[in-house]
Amino acid sequence: MKKKSKVGITITQHLLNQQRENPEATGSFTKLLNELIVAAKVISREVNKAGLADILGPTGTRNIYDDEVQKLDIFANKVIIERMQHVGELCCMGSEENENLIEIPSQYPKGDYILMFDPLDGSSNIDVNVSIGTIFGIYKRKNPDSCSEISLSDVLQKGINQVAAGYFLYGSSTMMVYTTGHGVHGFTLFPSIGEFLLSHENIKIPEKSTIYSVNESYYAYWDDKTRAIVDYFKKVDKDTGRPYTARYVGSLVADFHRNLLKGGIFMYPADRKDPKKPGGKLRLMVEANPLAMVVREAGGYASDGYVPILDIDPGFLHQRTPLYIGSKKDVEIAEAFMKGERK
Ligand code: AHG
Ligand code: MN
Ligand code: MN
Repeated sequence: MKKKSKVGITITQHLLNQQRENPEATGSFTKLLNELIVAAKVISREVNKAGLADILGPTGTRNIYDDEVQKLDIFANKVIIERMQHVGELCCMGSEENENLIEIPSQYPKGDYILMFDPLDGSSNIDVNVSIGTIFGIYKRKNPDSCSEISLSDVLQKGINQVAAGYFLYGSSTMMVYTTGHGVHGFTLFPSIGEFLLSHENIKIPEKSTIYSVNESYYAYWDDKTRAIVDYFKKVDKDTGRPYTARYVGSLVADFHRNLLKGGIFMYPADRKDPKKPGGKLRLMVEANPLAMVVREAGGYASDGYVPILDIDPGFLHQRTPLYIGSKKDVEIAEAFMKGERK
């Protein structure tokens, strides 16, 4: 039988098509994303052989969030920084693993884009072969062309200002999901040709779902309104398809991706467990904002329980936020409980 010659649409082709459809696109963005994709391929290769190489396990150090730092966190962070700093399209970067902004070394040309990223999400799952990921959000600096030093005021922008966002998921296969504001598109890495090929065009999240994702071990540390939300999704009520099924991987990217494709609400509420983390564990700039842009483009919604994540004005680089994200109707129910509109 004649072998099919059609390889399918590569991510590069898709980016170029999007670029052609965007009159103001200059190709800088395509260059930027292509380099990020190379970084992700390198990380994917290490993740997939991590069981064999000495790249597993904790480094014995803790990051600024006081989280235990895994070797793969550091590796992924290094790969992204080293690969992205010479692209010539960035004025700076912000990483979950770096306390301060990452400057572009003077020997490289600078650009007007800002890359915010979580190099490796789901660190607690690295050495047990459970899916992990990389999350990214891209902004344009507020006052472009200014040769002045980049300042935090340039970087600390609302998530609504992102020009692109997405994630890589290192799971049973390696996937990339991204949006530039023109739909959400998923690509699967074909190791045999080393290319990401279009596998999920124009992803739309079901408006209502039957899956909820939350770490219920924090129940004792939640306030009554948060408990009421989770109790609601667990209550038996045939007419509203309850109880929902509980699914919680412990890697935000994996939980988010499943809910994006099947429908679902992921919650990481504020809790009283760690006084250092009153606003929940997840980070606004490198986790919540990028996924909030993806889910909005897919027809879903992301809230901190009171306001849209994308409308939050960041006060500082590593600001945390409670996160309710996924199927629009379910997130609106969670918001209604938090606002006291539902009991
Ligand atoms: P990271 O590995 O980047 O620190 O992120 C881990 C996050 C997120 O991936 C996941 O949803 C959450 O931590 C799980 O936290 P709990 O173990 O407290 O449920
Ligand atoms: Mn993370
Ligand atoms: Mn991380």
